Amino acid sequence: MGAAAEGLTTDDGRRTLAPPGRRRVTVLARQQFGAYAVLRVADPGGPPPRPGQFAMLAAVERWGGGDGERPFLPRAFSVLRARPGELEFLLEDVGPGTNRLAELEPGDGLWVLGPLGIGFGVAASELAGRRALLVGGGVGIAPLAILQDELTASGAGATVLLGFRDGLHSAGAALLRETRIATDDGSHGHEGLVTDLLAEELDRDPAAVVYACGPPPMLEAVRVLCAEREVPAQLALESGMACGFGACFGCVVPTRDGYVRLCLDGPVLDADRLDSALTPGAGH
Ligand SMILES: Cc1cc2nc3c(=O)[nH]c(=O)nc-3n(C[C@H](O)[C@H](O)[C@H](O)COP(=O)(O)OP(=O)(O)OC[C@H]3O[C@@H](n4cnc5c(N)ncnc54)[C@H](O)[C@@H]3O)c2cc1C
Ligand code: FES
Repeated sequence: MGAAAEGLTTDDGRRTLAPPGRRRVTVLARQQFGAYAVLRVADPGGPPPRPGQFAMLAAVERWGGGDGERPFLPRAFSVLRARPGELEFLLEDVGPGTNRLAELEPGDGLWVLGPLGIGFGVAASELAGRRALLVGGGVGIAPLAILQDELTASGAGATVLLGFRDGLHSAGAALLRETRIATDDGSHGHEGLVTDLLAEELDRDPAAVVYACGPPPMLEAVRVLCAEREVPAQLALESGMACGFGACFGCVVPTRDGYVRLCLDGPVLDADRLDSALTPGAGH
């Protein structure tokens, strides 16, 4: 196996470096989980991503040329799951880019640039004997699946708390194992917010490290709950991304030590770097 397939990973283990340029991969399958589609692609030359890293995706055919030429730019997607030579992505159809990607069929071509960004830190020093609490909201469950796979493989294990708006969306929970679920409408699991479950878990045992991804109000509630209890947390944020590799400055977010480009210095940031997870420009 060559260096490209093995991947060059930074010393802290949070970033696998992407090969230069986008590469063409082939869709192997598309499967529906309620409101979400999972795209599985063959990626024989791609390096293994770290949990929390993302890729910029664009369909090879019929990308652009719709109303107002949309979708024009590639779109950012967290890696849902990685197996040798394969990647999976989770999509919610919310606009022209996700709409086109959710139509892809086996055999179709997909441009992939990645893995990009800095992922979750799961080194023993980061866990420091604490249990991992994974908290996901909506399509933000995506990077938690690959994270759960890694924690399980390392023997660390994880408690997984997932929140969805309704039963159609909660079908996405099948992508992770041994989950506690909250839905806004009570159609599945706890009726209420996933942060209710997080507060319960932290009250029961605050010796945890929290890993979270979801809409900004959820991330902000996670940040506040963890800050109050001095529980370390890592938050996978979103912002509008045009390039994904630091060139356009479209993704900047404020931190306590200045603005950072989320595509390079994130998307995972330690919560104690933020005054708020309600970053401008972010957010479903
Ligand atoms: C690092 C990162 C990882 C992501 N991972 C996933 C993923 O795993 N699955 C997934 O479905 N989506 C993910 N997204 C969001 C995804 O890139 C957007 O859904 C996509 O850009 C929407 O494109 P569109 O053309 O379908 O819709 P658009 O017309 O571009 O947007 C439709 C709606 O979504 C909002 N929106 C668009 N982009 C974003 C964004 N980046 N953040 C918040 N709101 C946005 C818009 O304000 C609008 O309301 C991720 C974004 C980032 C930055
Ligand atoms: S998306 Fe272009 S700099 Fe981050």
